[in-house]
Amino acid sequence: MSPKTVFVTGGAGYIGSHCIVELLQAGYNVVAVDNFTNSVCEDGEAPSLKRVEMITGKPVTFYQCDLLNKAKLREIFLKQHIDFVIHFAAIKAVGESMQFPVMYYENNIIGTIYLLEAMKEAGCYQLVYSSSCTVYGNPQYLPITEDHPTGNITNVYGRTKYFIEEMLKDVSAADKEWNIISLRYFNPVGAHPSGHIGEDPTKAFTNLMPYMAQVAIGHKDSLTIFGGDYATKDGTGIRDYIHVVDLASGHLAALQKLSNSVVRYKTYNLGTGQGYSVLELIDNFEKATKTKIPYKIVERRLGDIEQIYADVRLAKEELKWETKYSMKEMCEHFWKWKTMNPDGYRKSSIQTNGSG
Ligand code: NAD
Ligand code: WQD
Repeated sequence: MSPKTVFVTGGAGYIGSHCIVELLQAGYNVVAVDNFTNSVCEDGEAPSLKRVEMITGKPVTFYQCDLLNKAKLREIFLKQHIDFVIHFAAIKAVGESMQFPVMYYENNIIGTIYLLEAMKEAGCYQLVYSSSCTVYGNPQYLPITEDHPTGNITNVYGRTKYFIEEMLKDVSAADKEWNIISLRYFNPVGAHPSGHIGEDPTKAFTNLMPYMAQVAIGHKDSLTIFGGDYATKDGTGIRDYIHVVDLASGHLAALQKLSNSVVRYKTYNLGTGQGYSVLELIDNFEKATKTKIPYKIVERRLGDIEQIYADVRLAKEELKWETKYSMKEMCEHFWKWKTMNPDGYRKSSIQTNGSG
């Protein structure tokens, strides 16, 4: 059987690039697009994807293309024979989304509409969508299952993720050709174990582990912990951190599910099922990387929830997927990427740290 081709939107980004490694290693062909709104571009190419090619020894067909460029998107679909789509492309900064709601609604929602139109025209109906645990809003119970109510969200970014889920549900209800899986990611962290690819956004980032690594490497003085008075074991917020390579493998499991069955529309949580507090994450990071993270505890961050972690039984049972990386490895691999590439992809010369 000839290899299947997967069209990956946002392929130059953090999760997309890790997913493409897994896809290539599993024997899929990959056609990726990105507009570099949040990933590094060198001469129209994606250094992240050059690294992916180096890791796998396989080529990636890449187009610099904005999903809002309907004509170009359509052209790519008609030129390439696409079997599946994995849709990562989105802008995701919560604070920015509150300042520029129209930009978020346009990019994330209109971009998805154009993608669905291009897919339908090309006769491709198999889609995996990057959703988020943010669609649950403030948890009513824990661990959170896929049937927990959604939509009670306090930020625009989160609402784009939720509205797209609703749209995909409607699309699949209206036309039985569609086979769609939404994957609700919890908190992706870490990097590829090789240290050659990792997270390198062009927009400012505020997530915990990248910020912690900035402190550890000396680019920032100390970490600010948002809130020490939550009703949790040590007063700090709890999240379900998942290694980005485990997250990537969840997409391959979803493709298998789409290949083997008529799903119509289904959602799955992708997390480890285990919650870690901010202080626990700092402790694990310090031990795994033999660094010191000075911190101070300040007021809670507006819009933050106290704690969230996934019930992952559905993905285990129906996708036959489970995580394999520990918290220690999440920290070690992130640190390896950071120390091998202190300037991220910007200086695309590849350094090694002697450990592989
Ligand atoms: P990322 O910013 O690293 O990757 C997204 C990529 O999409 C970027 O390279 C960006 O340039 C590209 N992009 C954005 N808009 C585009 C457009 N209109 N046309 C073409 N390319 C476009 O982010 P990521 O962390 O890899 O996230 C991937 C997906 O996962 C997103 O949909 C995000 O909402 C979702 N998600 C991320 C997290 C997280 O914490 N990282 C958690 C839950 C869900
Ligand atoms: C984790 C914990 C913070 C930074 C965000 C998005 C969400 C989803 C995942 C995409 C919290 C604390 C953080 C810092 C801190 N993304 N923290 N000091 O808030 O769970 O979710 O990413 O869909 O939509 O909102 O992730 O990494 O920002 O925070 O104390 O400097 O670390 O309060 O408890 P979060 P995060």
